[in-house]
Amino acid sequence: MTNAAITGWGYYCPPCVLTNREIAEHVDTGDGWIRSRTGISERRIAGPEETTSTMATTAARRALDQARLSPNDIDLIICATTTPDYLLPATACLIQHQLGAEHAGAFDLNSACSGFLSALIVGNQFIQAGTCRRILVVAGETLSRFINWKDRQTCILFGDGAGAVVLEATRQSAGILSTVMGCQPDAERLLTIDAGGCARPASAETVAESAHCVRMRGNDVFRQAVRHMTQASQDAMAKANLLPDDIRTVVCHQANLRIIRAVQDRLGMPSEKTFVNVQRTGNTGATSVAIALGQMLGEQPARVGDHYLMVAFGGGFTWAAVTLRWADLALIVGDRGLQKSA
Ligand SMILES: CC(C)(COP(=O)(O)OP(=O)(O)OC[C@H]1O[C@@H](n2cnc3c(N)ncnc32)[C@H](O)[C@@H]1OP(=O)(O)O)[C@@H](O)C(=O)NCCC(=O)NCCS
Repeated sequence: MTNAAITGWGYYCPPCVLTNREIAEHVDTGDGWIRSRTGISERRIAGPEETTSTMATTAARRALDQARLSPNDIDLIICATTTPDYLLPATACLIQHQLGAEHAGAFDLNSACSGFLSALIVGNQFIQAGTCRRILVVAGETLSRFINWKDRQTCILFGDGAGAVVLEATRQSAGILSTVMGCQPDAERLLTIDAGGCARPASAETVAESAHCVRMRGNDVFRQAVRHMTQASQDAMAKANLLPDDIRTVVCHQANLRIIRAVQDRLGMPSEKTFVNVQRTGNTGATSVAIALGQMLGEQPARVGDHYLMVAFGGGFTWAAVTLRWADLALIVGDRGLQKSA
């Protein structure tokens, strides 16, 4: 049985910081309100020259360096994003070009904030099927360009950034252990970007209405996020025969500190086992779990055999959860040499 292990990881947060106080200079809100309702203190905003593909390429380079691989070693690039550079070409194709990953196929995937985990699950299938050996799973978002900065209900929540992992084939009994994906129609249209697609093409009118920006009824989305992330986490742990005690760290979608704490409490996980970075990043959409995973691995280096749970919820509605057993990366790097000489 071939399994898929994470052998490299990297993330990129743009240097420009936007604080709650700065937002409160433009809309009727306050630092205290934002922090108490969301846990967010600041978020990062892409610079004028930055796009989803440029940030994702930087994150991908960092993941490749960490894995000690070059772009030419990659068979496939999957990019999760809700905010692509263009409708065409796909952002993954731009990343492939910027990296010079000449042997890699490339495509985008959109399942909103569940994007990184959905892409990881798709990559896992390619590796288990034997179609690919090494895949770059990348997520990037430039949500700041799809925010109505006059809407206090949404403009306080989101940030920009990118994250990436290298997923690599291994015969070890490690890597991705179980996966869960789900979808439930957002019948009431609680979380949407209404214009810019073929149902409502961009026009002077849509721009005047800011209909190309994120619209959300936050408190209804909140309840759905808690319910589905809890259930998906429980299902993923059950599929892998893991109990909460077996998990070293849970990496949740970083939408709101209150959502993360509610999920953690329902799972019976102590707060020290739940990684949180939403204070500094805001909700970075498809990217959030990838950035959180990269920061978590930087702060608490993984040990062979450690178990992790990752879970996300997003527009659609969509949700996804993945459990992981940390592989012996030195063995995987050693096997690469053997494959080359064979
Ligand atoms: C958006 C969110 C922070 C709002 O917090 P909440 O506690 O649910 O607050 P409500 O929406 O019920 O609004 C409560 C009041 O605060 C007001 N309010 C909304 N945004 C505000 C802001 N930025 N500053 C001050 N007041 C605000 C509302 O107008 C409302 O006022 P009212 O009672 O006079 O009508 C919260 O619902 C949330 O994080 N939801 C999930 C969003 C999310 O993460 N979505 C993505 C999932 S992938």
